[in-house]
Amino acid sequence: MKKYKHFETNAIRNQISRSQKKEHSVPIFATSSFVFDSAEEARAVFADEVDGYYYSRIANPNSDEFAIKLAQLEGCEQGVATATGMSANFLALVANLRSGDHIVSSRSLFSSSHQIITQILPRWGITHTYVDYNNTEGWEAAIMPTTRLIFVETPSNPGLDLIDLAFIGKLAKENNCLFVVDNCFATPYIQNPSEYGCDLICHSATKFIDGQGRALGGAVVGSKEAMEQVHFFSKQTGPSLSPFNAWILSKSLETLAVRMEKHCSNAFSLAIHLETVEGIKRVKYPFLESHPQYELAKKQMRHGGGLVTFELDGGYERCIRFIDNIEMFSITPNLGDTRTAITHPASTTHSKLTDEEQARVGISKSMIRMSVGLEHIDDIIEDVEKALEKSK
Ligand SMILES: Cc1ncc(COP(=O)(O)O)c(C=O)c1O
Repeated sequence: MKKYKHFETNAIRNQISRSQKKEHSVPIFATSSFVFDSAEEARAVFADEVDGYYYSRIANPNSDEFAIKLAQLEGCEQGVATATGMSANFLALVANLRSGDHIVSSRSLFSSSHQIITQILPRWGITHTYVDYNNTEGWEAAIMPTTRLIFVETPSNPGLDLIDLAFIGKLAKENNCLFVVDNCFATPYIQNPSEYGCDLICHSATKFIDGQGRALGGAVVGSKEAMEQVHFFSKQTGPSLSPFNAWILSKSLETLAVRMEKHCSNAFSLAIHLETVEGIKRVKYPFLESHPQYELAKKQMRHGGGLVTFELDGGYERCIRFIDNIEMFSITPNLGDTRTAITHPASTTHSKLTDEEQARVGISKSMIRMSVGLEHIDDIIEDVEKALEKSK
């Protein structure tokens, strides 16, 4: 793919080469397999002697376009598109590990990543140590002779805690560990972990990359070396992205920059407003000066992102009344949509965590998470204000 100077141009101008029909917009290669002109060509393609598509689980022009473009936007050499964000995370975690290996991970994770690390990987003898995001000595102390991989999610879902990417990148290098980042909340427009030595970056493209709540998808991108086993695992185990979803997600990358600008400016304005509202406390947004890691946010993020969390006076019952009195926002666990979405993480997305686990990652029963959409900011604030009043 060609490399232009700016993110937007790379996201818009890079696409697979035109077919003989000279279409302007890329077609969808909705086909399970591809044909050969001869038995000899089939043999040569299977033997990797010549390039060629033959089966969409292995590779497809639409999923390749999406994965390679995303890799380029992340400053990485290679990419693999996956059916969901979780298949991307699973692939990035298991592809380079074997029984007896140990991983170090940030404790604040999306709940399914937490389930993989605590419930699934131990079945194959892969152990872990969790470290709190702000425990600098803890990271160093957690490294063992068998530690092969460090996994982090930043900003975290839903706590919006940050991991110092430069610090972890250095630690991973010094200890010869693979450094893996779930960059779902930031997107490549806001943060590029590869600048800090990250080897593999996972994305749930279901979120801001799609941006309109239409398609599930994901990707792992990274260096050629780290991706070798990811390619192998993906081809053999088949978490492949459908051509139709790949087409949607690649098109969506074209508008990621403009959408993220607006998501972030709306979220920032909402966060500033919420800090002034009586009955609302602990408003959390990476670019608010009150965020405990504001300096770090400014250092490694271009903007503060599209998520805001806050707590309501009146606890769980008030939160439920507040959500039930919302008129415009969608009550849905998804995020990164044009439409503002509201959730109560403790009883939904993170309900599989015990009360103690929730408390350790900063989730309280009074916490509300908002994925701020692209509606007019005045309408967003008005919906919050009305629901607050009615929930008193
Ligand atoms: C940070 C993070 N990573 C991964 C995922 C999983 O993505 P998907 O639902 O596409 O599997 C999510 C879903 O919310 C998420 O928030």
